[in-house]
Amino acid sequence: MDFKDLSFPEAPLIKIPPPGPKSKEYLDYQASHEGSAVSYPKGMPMAIRRARGATVEDVDGNIYIDFFGGAGVMNVGHANPAVSEAASKQLSELTHSLDIPNPARKALVENLLTLLPKDLNRIFFGGPTGSDAVEAALKLARYNSRRYPLIAFEGGYHGMSAGALSLSSGLVFKEDFLPLLPEVHFVPYAYCYRCAFGREPDTCGLECVQYLEHVVEDPHSGVGRPAAVIVEAIQGEGGSIVPPDEFIPRVRAVCDKYEILMVVDEIQAGFCRTGKMFSFEHTGTVPDIMTMSKALGGIGFPISGIAYREYLDTWPGGKHIGTFRGNVLAYAAGSEALNFMVQNNLAEHALNLGEVMLVWLKELEEDSKVVGEVRGKGLMLGVELVRDKATKEPAPELAREVRAICHRWGLLIEIGGHYGNVARFLPPLVLTEEMARKGTELFSDAVKTAEKSLK
Ligand SMILES: Cc1ncc(COP(=O)(O)O)c(C=O)c1O
Repeated sequence: MDFKDLSFPEAPLIKIPPPGPKSKEYLDYQASHEGSAVSYPKGMPMAIRRARGATVEDVDGNIYIDFFGGAGVMNVGHANPAVSEAASKQLSELTHSLDIPNPARKALVENLLTLLPKDLNRIFFGGPTGSDAVEAALKLARYNSRRYPLIAFEGGYHGMSAGALSLSSGLVFKEDFLPLLPEVHFVPYAYCYRCAFGREPDTCGLECVQYLEHVVEDPHSGVGRPAAVIVEAIQGEGGSIVPPDEFIPRVRAVCDKYEILMVVDEIQAGFCRTGKMFSFEHTGTVPDIMTMSKALGGIGFPISGIAYREYLDTWPGGKHIGTFRGNVLAYAAGSEALNFMVQNNLAEHALNLGEVMLVWLKELEEDSKVVGEVRGKGLMLGVELVRDKATKEPAPELAREVRAICHRWGLLIEIGGHYGNVARFLPPLVLTEEMARKGTELFSDAVKTAEKSLK
């Protein structure tokens, strides 16, 4: 299939500087009637009318290239025709069944089991959000191990519900709500651009994993033997951080040695985004428990779940429940989305296009005084912005300015990273090379423009 046909061809097209008058009406209404915790409209002020493929149209008729992808949900593209049709057909058949089996649910489980390694042969759907999958994973780990402590990584993001938030490192998310779950401990991720140990990747011997082992092994580390280590094989919110190849295998080895369950969070990196169906497949390891959500619902139908090894399937009925245990529309859409991913080699497309975009972005890194590092895998890319390349002083205000300029010029991007200074790209994977080039050029120009205003 030619992915070109899925998007609005005229993107980017700015008819009226956003937010235009119609968008303003929606934004004003929202500001005076909805809770002040809404966040995305503050960074990308607009109201959305419709979206197709890798493009989004606002209510004023402006059309954007979407490098944001609904925060990594829209892997098969907005309003993907085959997926929309599957969901429409399901709509008139059955839309809610708690966890009682039905044809759409069975089909999705079958589909997932053909794509997962054979060791991950149990699927469990919980509540509709990724956070709920994380809650399920930590409960399953605790239930089986009969241990309480958990280890997570600096820069990790796992969601907003109490357990998931406890495992997320960003203070901006949690500092007003502490204390959360006790006995959650953080260790440094292999964030080599800002190594916690001041080491260089070629010679460090992965000191971060050595430290993890020290924490687990030393009876005076202050950390009880953990139920699980939870990790993203490629960190998303932490700043699109791709660890060295040996990092995840070495974490796996520590987990094996000390009989700790390894949970890999695939909520953002899964479903072809990084060039494999699941990002752990780059590492030659298989987790004990894997979380999934976001793109699992095809075109944004909320659903989450976990896949795990059969021997862990000891918990009795009712240990993790809720009114929405899976989502029948999402099963139908998700199955069709998985078919689309496989039939269109979406993982390979994401991998190849990501490599091309990294080459373009590397040119920006060389030319610009404020691009500290560009990195990523597949279509999970990050550009770390700094005030000074030598000191690496983070430039979050610059990242916000770049996002604002991109928005005004017709490109949607995300911001993340430890210091809020990483411009992040999570486009629908049906992005074409032509659209990717337009978007990257626009982004590069935005960086150069914003750089001039840096005080
Ligand atoms: C890696 C990861 N885990 C968990 C979550 C939480 O998912 P949700 O926002 O659906 O609760 C996210 C959300 O961005 C994520 O990126």
